[in-house]
Amino acid sequence: MARGTRGRAQVAVLLSGTGRSLENLLACRARGELDIDIPVVVSTRADVRGVEIARAAGIETHVVRRRDAPSPDALSARVAEALAPHGIDLVLLAGFLAQLRVLPEWEGRMLNIHPSLLPLFGGKGFYGSRVHAAVLEAGMKVTGCTVHFVDAGYDTGPIVLQRCLAVQEDDTPETLGARVFALECEAYPEAVRLFIAGRLRIDGRVVRVAPA
Ligand code: GRF
Repeated sequence: MARGTRGRAQVAVLLSGTGRSLENLLACRARGELDIDIPVVVSTRADVRGVEIARAAGIETHVVRRRDAPSPDALSARVAEALAPHGIDLVLLAGFLAQLRVLPEWEGRMLNIHPSLLPLFGGKGFYGSRVHAAVLEAGMKVTGCTVHFVDAGYDTGPIVLQRCLAVQEDDTPETLGARVFALECEAYPEAVRLFIAGRLRIDGRVVRVAPA
């Protein structure tokens, strides 16, 4: 893997909202749990907390609004332009609510985290508390989160890892969402560590994880 000047993996984060996942990645990095640099963030919205968090952390932050890049091709071109100077090893989608075309240089280098056990409760329209509301409506007894490689579909790429938890009788979309997010805070950094350690190999639909 190409590495940045200080030997650490260079990671770009793409977001559209509150930036909780970015915040968690930064906290993990600060605690020495994640050996990465995040030199660049791209947001599809200007006035979101995710942008504030990125700027406060001194990260170069680009806003590419969907109306300025209305197709997946146009959006990917703009994102690629923002990432190009940074020698990016890995692109993380972190609450990114727009469809990209996966450029050849991103294949096998772009991850997403989704707040359900994919392939359940994924795809267009399944984001935020809608996911957890659908889980409750379906009477699920377990749910969780999924980290997966990004492919041409919505939430359809090869699964890297999943974490699950029990649904409680009195759960609301909010209480469930909070517990799932706590799992996400462990799962995403873990997937990043596996990636940067070179332990992930995509074998068709299956991601093989090499032993440590
Ligand atoms: C997380 O629940 C993640 O699973 C999904 O977006 C949420 C993070 O978005 N992809 P944000 O950081 O709160 O904006």
